[in-house]
Amino acid sequence: MTMKTILVTGGMGYIGSHTVVELIEKKYNVIIVDNLCNSNDKVLERINTITGVTPQFYRVDCCDKTGFEEVFKMNKIDAVIHFAGLKAVGESVAKPLMYYENNLISTLYLIELMEKYGVNNLVFSSSATVYGDPISVPIYEDFDLHVTNPYGRTKLMIEDMLRDYAKVHPEFNIALLRYFNPIGAHPSGLMGEDPNGIPNNLMPYITQVAIGKREFLGVFGNDYDTPDGTGVRDYIHVCDLAMGHVLALNKLFTDSGLVTYNLGSGKGTSVMELHDAMEKACGFKIPYKIMPRRAGDIATCYAAPDKAFKEIGFKTKFTIEDMCRDSWNWQKKNPNGYKG
Ligand code: NAD
Ligand code: UD1
Repeated sequence: MTMKTILVTGGMGYIGSHTVVELIEKKYNVIIVDNLCNSNDKVLERINTITGVTPQFYRVDCCDKTGFEEVFKMNKIDAVIHFAGLKAVGESVAKPLMYYENNLISTLYLIELMEKYGVNNLVFSSSATVYGDPISVPIYEDFDLHVTNPYGRTKLMIEDMLRDYAKVHPEFNIALLRYFNPIGAHPSGLMGEDPNGIPNNLMPYITQVAIGKREFLGVFGNDYDTPDGTGVRDYIHVCDLAMGHVLALNKLFTDSGLVTYNLGSGKGTSVMELHDAMEKACGFKIPYKIMPRRAGDIATCYAAPDKAFKEIGFKTKFTIEDMCRDSWNWQKKNPNGYKG
């Protein structure tokens, strides 16, 4: 059987790089397109160290249609996984046009090029953010969609665009994957999340407190209607998430149409529970202070992952303890991420 070639946009980023490793291990040929606006070219060496393979890499902006088209001209592509995008909620509020331009235009050009070059299989990185504040938990795929910030709106607009496109292109297969909260790192400690500046998300903030870069963790509110008063989320190990992409690809190669899946563990973990699990993983105390709630946050968010299990066999393997161990291992071995 000939190897299938998968184009991975944003493949140098956090989730993309782990997915590239998973794809190589499952014997796919991988091509990465990334403009490195939020990643580092060292990722390529790390992928090689883990897998023994260096995927072909194009430093191209997906919003540069001419440059992007060259990749399609030069390669026979079987499917695309589209991770490329900007993802910081606060920044999207401050710079909405930058988010609309980058996330929407890149996807629009991608679909046009896929159509022109006859590439009919797409996996798109969506987010649980499209559910807004859900009416209940766990969250099912058919819940109403609401968004509260420009970042979330780009995800919903892209989902809508893809649903419209799929209606008139039955030959085009799409998997919309709604990720919950990816954390953790490759168990080797060679790849992980490498945020620029002050981390917005909980796990990278905790690991930076643990490594001594930040003084304490601010816990954003302890008066939510949750068992311990702190926010509850569905954390998923980035390697489980990566595996979900390979399962979604298999579905696209064997079935047709548009599918939507939640990728989460189905379990809720509070801020204090994650903090305590990290203390165990590190073996020392991690200072924290209770702070006011963060604007726009919801109390509880976790997935019903049943549909992904039933239709593509998706089931998370890693526990919160594994996620904490791997996040800490990555941070400890790479105190400055890929930067040195
Ligand atoms: P990331 O920033 O680590 O990776 C994104 C990659 O895309 C980066 O390497 C960046 O350089 C690249 N990129 C951005 N714009 C580009 C463009 N125009 N052309 C080429 N490359 C471009 O982010 P991540 O955490 O790996 O997220 C990947 C995708 O998953 C994003 O679309 C994000 O919105 C989505 N997502 C992430 C999370 C999360 O918590 N990390 C949750 C839900 C959804
Ligand atoms: C955030 C984004 C969401 C995005 C997701 C994954 C917001 C409002 N939402 O979600 O759109 O899809 O990241 O990238 O930014 N917390 C603290 N202290 C911190 C950081 C976080 O207590 O320093 C708490 C939060 O209040 C929340 C939990 O930890 O209860 C998780 O926060 P975070 O990691 O930012 O993820 P989300 O809020 O789920």
